[in-house]
Formats: sequence, C-alpha cells, structure tokens
Amino acid sequence: MVALFQRPTRLLSVLGGIFIFYALVVYLPRNQEPLYSFEYVTGTYDWSALPQRHPVSQITPVPKGPFRKMPKVQFDFASAPTPNKTRQATLADRRSVVKDTFLKSWNSYKTYAWLYDELEPVSGKGKDTFGGWAATVIDALDTLWMMGLKEEFYLAVAAAVTIKWETKETAINFFETTIRHLGGLLSAYDLSKEPALLKKAIEIGDLLYAGFDTPNRMPPFWLDFQKAIDGTIQPGSHEPSASVTSSGVEFTRLAQLTGDDKYYDAIDRVSQFLQRTQNTTRLRGMWPTFANMQSLDLSYESDFTLGALADSLYEYLPKMFAITGGVPMYESMYRGAMDTVTKHLLYRPMTPNQDDILFTGDVTVDAADEPLLKTEGQHLSCFVGGMYGLGGKLFDIPDHVTIGEKIAKGCAWVYDSFPTGIMPEIYGLLRCPSLEPCPWNEEVWREQGDPKLRKGFRNARDPRYLLRPEAIESIFLMYRMTGKEEYQEIAWRMFQSIKNATETELAASAISDVTVTGETQKLDSMESFWFSETLKYFWLIFSSPDLISLDEYVLNTEAHPLLRPK
Ligand SMILES: *[C@@H]1O[C@H](CO)[C@@H](O)[C@H](O)[C@H]1NC(C)=O
Ligand SMILES: *[C@@H]1O[C@H](CO)[C@@H](O)[C@H](O)[C@H]1NC(C)=O
Ligand SMILES: *[C@@H]1O[C@H](CO)[C@@H](O)[C@H](O)[C@H]1NC(C)=O
Repeated sequence: MVALFQRPTRLLSVLGGIFIFYALVVYLPRNQEPLYSFEYVTGTYDWSALPQRHPVSQITPVPKGPFRKMPKVQFDFASAPTPNKTRQATLADRRSVVKDTFLKSWNSYKTYAWLYDELEPVSGKGKDTFGGWAATVIDALDTLWMMGLKEEFYLAVAAAVTIKWETKETAINFFETTIRHLGGLLSAYDLSKEPALLKKAIEIGDLLYAGFDTPNRMPPFWLDFQKAIDGTIQPGSHEPSASVTSSGVEFTRLAQLTGDDKYYDAIDRVSQFLQRTQNTTRLRGMWPTFANMQSLDLSYESDFTLGALADSLYEYLPKMFAITGGVPMYESMYRGAMDTVTKHLLYRPMTPNQDDILFTGDVTVDAADEPLLKTEGQHLSCFVGGMYGLGGKLFDIPDHVTIGEKIAKGCAWVYDSFPTGIMPEIYGLLRCPSLEPCPWNEEVWREQGDPKLRKGFRNARDPRYLLRPEAIESIFLMYRMTGKEEYQEIAWRMFQSIKNATETELAASAISDVTVTGETQKLDSMESFWFSETLKYFWLIFSSPDLISLDEYVLNTEAHPLLRPK
C-alpha cells in the first residue's frame, strides 16, 4: 500500500519537482455502501526522496520479537465485582456530560475555525499555532473514535488526509509536530486501520525524519525546511531536553507499521546518547533541563526538573520499554533516573492535616555540588504520578506504584485547595524535612505562607489554568492500575470544576486565575490537547477499562494510544 502510493510520487517529483497527486480513497463499511468517501491529497514536497547528507553506516533495526511477557499494567478488573446498576448509570451520565462538553467545543471549532490549528473560544476566530496543519483535527481524531462519533471521525479523516504540509512559516517545532501530528495520525490508524491515515503519517514522519540528518544525528528544536532540503540542519547548543529527546514512542511505532528500520535507528541514537550521559551530569541519574545537542556534553548544566522543558524525556523511558517490547536500556535508565528523583526531587508538603501526599520540585546543583530543592509544583509535572505507576507496574517495583498514588493524590489535593477547584500552572508549597509526615508549624506558615491561600501554600506564582491534562492523566492511570473507585470520584470533581470555570459560549477557554471566587477571566485560548488529552482522559476514566487497555496500548505524551507489540 505504502510503496504503491509512493512510486508515482517519486516519478512525478523527478519530472516536475513540486506537484499535487490526488487519489480517491473510499471507505466501505460492512454493508458495502460507501458512507465515507474522501479524497487523498499527497504532500507538496516528497520528503521520502530527500537524500541523507549525514548517512549512517549501520541501521539498528526495530526489535521484531519474540517479545518477553511483561507484567500486567492494569488492575485485574475482570475478577472484581462488576459495578451495580446505580453505579453503571452514574458512569453513563458522566460519560454523556463529557461527550457533550467535547461536542460543544468540537462543533464550534468546526463552525468558526475549521482547519486552523485552534479555535479562539471567546472571540470565535481561528488561529494557527503549529504551522497551520489543523492541529485540532489531528489531535481530535482518536478521541472522536473512542467516543463512537464515527461520522465526525471520518469527516476529520477526510480533512486530515488533505494536509499538504505546506506552511507560511520557515520552520516547524520538531517536538510538537511529532507528538501531535505524527502521534495523532498513527493512533487514529491503529484504532481505525484506515490506510490513508498511515500514508499521511508516513509523509509527516519523513518530513520529521529529515530533522535527524545532522552531523551527529541529533534533531533540532526548530526544523527549518530550507535547511532540511539543503542538508544543513544543526542541532542546538541549549535546547529544552524533552523537546529533542522524546520522539521515541512515535518513531518506534512508525518503524513497526512500515517495516522501515530507519525511523527506529534515528531515535535509538538519541536513546544511546541519553544512556551514555545519564551518569555524567551534575545530578547523576538525571539529565539537565537544557541540553547541548551540539557538543553532547551535559556535565556543566545545573538545573534539573520533571516539569516544563524536561518532562517527557522521563515519561518516555517506561513507555519506550513497553512499545519496544522490552529493550533493557529503558529499564536501566528509568531505574537510575527515578532513584535520583526519589532521593532529591520528591518532597512531602507540610499541611495542617498531615495529608499523605507527595510532590516533585526542581533542583539546582550549587557550586559545592549540593543539590538544592525548590519546592514548587507545576501542573505539567503532575504526569509524574502516572509515570511512577507505569514504571512500578512494568518493572515490578511496588513502591513506585505507592509513590505514584501519593503524587496523583497530591495533584488532586491542590485542585481541591483553590476556590475554582483547579490547580494553578505553578505554585509553591511548604515542605516537611523528610518524606515522613511532619507536624504543622503555624510559625513557619506565618513567615513563608501566603495568607490569601490555603494553609500549606507559599504562593500561586502562575495562577493560570490552560486546560491542561496532566492531573487527570495521573488520576486516570492510577485508576486503571489500582481499580480504586475513589479516582473516578476525584476525576468527576475535577471535571465539574474545569467545566464550570472554563466554559464559554462556544467552547472552553484557558483562564487567567484559578484563585478567584466568582467569575473567571477567560484567556481566549483552547489548545488542541483539550481534545486529545484532557477530555479523552475524562472519557476513559468513566468508560469500561477495556477501552484502550494499558496492556495493549502506550499513550504518547499527547495521549495518543499506540499499539504495543504482542
Ligand atoms: C452500588 O455501588 C456503589 C459503589 O460503586 C455503592 O456506593 C452503592 O451503595 C451501591 N448501590 C447499591 C444499591 O447497592
Ligand atoms: C549509572 O549508575 C547507576 C547507579 O550507579 C548504574 O546502575 C547504571 O548502570 C549506570 N549507567 C550507566 C550507563 O553506566
Ligand atoms: C461555578 O462558577 C461560578 C462562577 O462563575 C461560581 O460562583 C460557582 O461557585 C461555581 N460552581 C461550582 C460548583 O464550582
């Protein structure tokens, strides 16, 4: 299928350079009546034909099995009692509210911003934020499928397969395009098996693959089209470490689906680099927030975090283990990193009720090589609960599942701490001297706390809420791993708060301040992860645990599920 579509592409490209190629793809449901027909438009530039200027001498193949049997990630729901009628009705009601919320935002996007990257949910205009390749359409595909909205799904497919990967910009964000566009298309393909989606995924995969054609095979932060064509891309010397190292899950799946090992080889080199440098940094076991991808020397950077800029580097370690079928390097990197995190980044907040919760902060290593912990929390780092859980399950480390639960519950506690019922983007907490519970100290609170906030908070340094998913992500993952109904209750509280505080006439909007009582101020922004992550997790936590089982799928960092090898 793939070769068939690519051959005329190359031929035409030789003849005419830039061209457009149409093919008619008709979807035939079981009754053989063509309900969904759409036109495939091939990308303008044939990235698959671009020669490598820095070719590799040996390609590392994607693991092809036989794969080792892995421990189960999900709780054994089958041997637990099925929910009674009342409970089933409650869950059905919640699903229907989540779906209505999704449809309201989706329908407004369709009406007012169709094919733009995002809808501005207050002014009702379209906005391009990621190159103008309909990020919302691509990101919504798999959620539409999971919600059973098949007609909407194929409408979105019809739009997605006409993207020509042309843009007004000179460069695209390598990371965001990988996780949103490549991840979104691959997962929609894995769910629907619609061949046109894989074809589109290969086109954007080939464009992104051009980013690895650098002297040391490390990708850039910005992928500049002309430089890619000229073969002159250079990786940067001060890049957010997550942005240039976490594309492994997507490229592994692309290699598995196409049988083309080059995609796996590309990210395997990045992983080898991570392994080589893991113990050379100022905080052994972790990689710094910023990475010099030119010199590949990480030994002088002093800042370490699981939050913004570095997050998915760590998130992808257990996920890579799962999707590669168990490549050992990812387990050893996970263990090494989490030992350091547990020792130096994890902390217990000081709260009046001595709540049994944990958080991760940021570390700066000082001139005397001492790691100094800053006890800030970020909405972005709430994913850590789910990561500890996944690592704990895959590598059979029960302590990590326990820590994961405490971090997830910590995030829920912060949601419950604000009048809107939502976590701020960044906030500071008072801390206990160790990970053990400690008595409340009113004096410390009076000195360091913010009297306007709940006891235990030093500040709400960035009080915005941007419709982010990381808290419900961890709550969802812990639910699937432990089977505890309390996580569904937490999720429902979070959902109602978010809906209430962010709803606009048209859709849902980021808000400026979660610390206010009464009406919130809307920021007129609705990133595509509202569709691909936040609402998907809410949908899944109230759905049957068989829907996207974590024993069958790995979710990329944009919450796009990709099939794990059997
Ligand atoms: C049904 O199950 C829920 C917990 O899932 C429980 O709280 C409730 O009491 C049960 N109702 C009946 C009628 O058994
Ligand atoms: C890094 O150090 C840890 C702990 O000492 C060790 O287990 C691991 O194998 C080391 N990693 C590498 C790549 O040398
Ligand atoms: C919903 O938001 C309004 C302000 O817009 C607020 O006054 C109210 O308390 C909120 N309700 C809930 C249940 O959070």
